[in-house]
Amino acid sequence: MVLWNFRWSRKVIYGGASVAAVAISVSAKSGQPDVGQALVNARQLFGLWALAFLLASMILGPLTSVFPWVPLRSSFMYGRRAVGVSALGFCILHVLAYCWSVLRRDWRELFTPGALWVTGLALGLIALIDMLALGVTSRDASVKAMGGRKWKKLHRSVYWLLPVVLLHAVLVGADFGVNHGPDVHGEADYGCLIAFLCVSAGWMLLAILRRRGWRWTATAWGRGQRAPL
Ligand code: HEM
Repeated sequence: MVLWNFRWSRKVIYGGASVAAVAISVSAKSGQPDVGQALVNARQLFGLWALAFLLASMILGPLTSVFPWVPLRSSFMYGRRAVGVSALGFCILHVLAYCWSVLRRDWRELFTPGALWVTGLALGLIALIDMLALGVTSRDASVKAMGGRKWKKLHRSVYWLLPVVLLHAVLVGADFGVNHGPDVHGEADYGCLIAFLCVSAGWMLLAILRRRGWRWTATAWGRGQRAPL
């Protein structure tokens, strides 16, 4: 018998992500008489949610492998694809909000903020292309069409995708405290940088433990068979 939480996991994740996207759009606009400021708020929030969903989709595999007793394990694994596709959805909204804000001001703002900015945008574009490739090939049919080895090789690109996205956020994201866009006013804080770096370090640790075959079961904590990536 298939449990309801397994069957519903993807629908719940897609539903939750859609509600979050609407809530972000409403909260970005609320109390802002100026469309420009609303777009800045929206692009920042969509970017942060895209990164959070990307990290969640990456952490679920190693987490449930190292701690196999995690409740709702199979539902999480089944829902992982929906988490990744939602990350892509937030990412597209993030890019659309930026394109809208830059086109209504001056398209030259794509490069006038300087080399740091242009490098950050280029990294964002590379990350977006990779996320699109991962999203498009996330269906079971793609594994068959591409062949397991090729599919795995492509999907292992998440290992360099995360540092690319983090570097992108550091080089252009106002909330990461290093740089900010010409239309961003107000102080940055380093909270986002520290929080995302901590979660990324946690993911890396779990991925290493999984690769070395470490599992924490009810009876033991130790190395079993080397787990596949
Ligand atoms: C063509 C692709 C992309 C473009 C043009 C782009 C553009 C931008 C811009 C302009 C900012 C600065 C926002 C601000 O502080 O006002 C930004 C920040 C950010 N972007 Fe992107 N981005 C792209 C791809 C991505 C991807 C693929 C992700 C993640 C999955 C991402 C995640 C972030 C994050 C987390 C921030 C920091 C937001 C903040 O500081 O509040 N971006 N991006």
